[in-house]
Amino acid sequence: MKFLESIRRRKTNFEESNSGLKRVLSLRDLVFLGMAAIIGGGIFSSVGEACANGGPAIIYLFIICAVACGFAALCYAEFSTRIPVSGSAYTYAYASFGELFAWIIGWALLMEYAIGNIYVSFSWSGYFVNLLENMHVHIPEWMTMSYVAAKKSISTDTHALAAWSSAPVIGGLRIILDLPAILINIFITALVYIGISESKRASNIMVLLKVAVIIMVIIVGFFYIDFDNYVPFMPTGFGGVMGSVSAVFFTYIGFDALSTMAEECENPKRDLPRGMLYSLLICTVLYILISLVLTGMVNYTTLNVTDPLAFALAEKGVKWLEYIVSISAVIAMTSVLLVFQMGQPRIWFSMSRDGLIPKKFSTIHPKYKTPSFATIVTGLVVGIPILFTDKDFVLDFTSIGTLFAFVLVCGGILLLPRREKEKGRFHMPHIKAKYTYPLLVLLSALTSHYFIPDYFSEMVQPENFNSVFGLSHILFWIIMIILAVFAFIRDWSLIPLLGVSTCLYLLTGMEMSNWFWFFVWFVIGIIIYFIYGYRKSALNMNK
Ligand code: ALA
Repeated sequence: MKFLESIRRRKTNFEESNSGLKRVLSLRDLVFLGMAAIIGGGIFSSVGEACANGGPAIIYLFIICAVACGFAALCYAEFSTRIPVSGSAYTYAYASFGELFAWIIGWALLMEYAIGNIYVSFSWSGYFVNLLENMHVHIPEWMTMSYVAAKKSISTDTHALAAWSSAPVIGGLRIILDLPAILINIFITALVYIGISESKRASNIMVLLKVAVIIMVIIVGFFYIDFDNYVPFMPTGFGGVMGSVSAVFFTYIGFDALSTMAEECENPKRDLPRGMLYSLLICTVLYILISLVLTGMVNYTTLNVTDPLAFALAEKGVKWLEYIVSISAVIAMTSVLLVFQMGQPRIWFSMSRDGLIPKKFSTIHPKYKTPSFATIVTGLVVGIPILFTDKDFVLDFTSIGTLFAFVLVCGGILLLPRREKEKGRFHMPHIKAKYTYPLLVLLSALTSHYFIPDYFSEMVQPENFNSVFGLSHILFWIIMIILAVFAFIRDWSLIPLLGVSTCLYLLTGMEMSNWFWFFVWFVIGIIIYFIYGYRKSALNMNK
């Protein structure tokens, strides 16, 4: 394939010029980095909203999201053994779909890494400010939230009102900013700039700490479970469970960040797939146990708070652990910030090497051996919007962009030719989908109809047809039917097909406003591509 040959050639040229990245990451480091990226703002913060919406049955959504991520991870793994080059899904799309799709995916990944880090920075700041409060250190409210967040909740949140009324006014403008979020971003950018070894060491220590604390919460919390809280197990029905896709999916985002580090792995073909799958598996088990413990300790309706773990412990009077949890939440989120902040410049690094963005983005620092310019730009792309956005907006935006990227990665595997098994390398099992996939689509439709008798008839009601529910579900089933036909004709492989299907299903849970902003974002990306990337592409230069 010309795209594949093209990236391999540029990678070899790059390495021969002796300016490549350092290969220092072992399998253990990768599993640690995976967990560093996965366990963060989601399980310490957004999980509260999810438990409050779905009750104890929220574990079903954790399982569904884990399955979707598992299929996507297998596809990422397959790709990363075929194309062990930095750049993650971007590079994979480049190899399978060509340059334009690669650009689109690179553009979508910006939402996952940079925009995702904006959410985590806000959550980090929330926990950090609370921690300082507990130590009797008070930061003025106008320095603890963004202008947009303060303005939005001025009538519902006393904290926001305090920020608004105490903010200094300069030239008629109220100065309200989330200073801790800005400072942590500057600190992380500096750490990533200095180098991967230093970042790796810091990240490993943080992961050990946060996993230890989560296990401690599970064990201690277990003794405080009131089994009455599990009755009924699904108090808001399956609709209530599925209403929190963004919040639950966000908890899993991150395993794919490992694939941006292929050029820094000791043995990427063997270790990258394992690193992704192991870290995903460990986190899934921890998440299911934590949500069972949380919804068992207190009534699910009380959990809609920003710090649900600390809250549940406080309710049961386990003060000593509450304090430890708050500290570890700050640590956990620091490690997520670190991995994402490492991922974004590496995607730009690859895009720049392919000529889609300016050459400056692939400059390697002579001493630190890191993509230094791209790292600084990432810092700015995360830091500046911290001044102008709020948490809710960026959470949904991140989840939609990441799911979109996962769909393209799984779809990409379908288009690649099959390859022979090689000893010592990961090989995604080829399960024939010719009959199994159409059968599964049919079974899913029948099951949906059986459990939710109005499901299909509601979908096509004229008033629902225009709503996101109607439109997205109709589109979902149309795509399922098309995929079933292709699976039959082309005898596609089952795992990537299930990856596409489960991720698309999760996308049906997104709001109309998310789709609007996603569309705007998408159009801006396409315009930039045709103005710059299309003309400067390395593929064009090689022709
Ligand atoms: N999964 C990451 C987190 O929860 C993004 O912070």
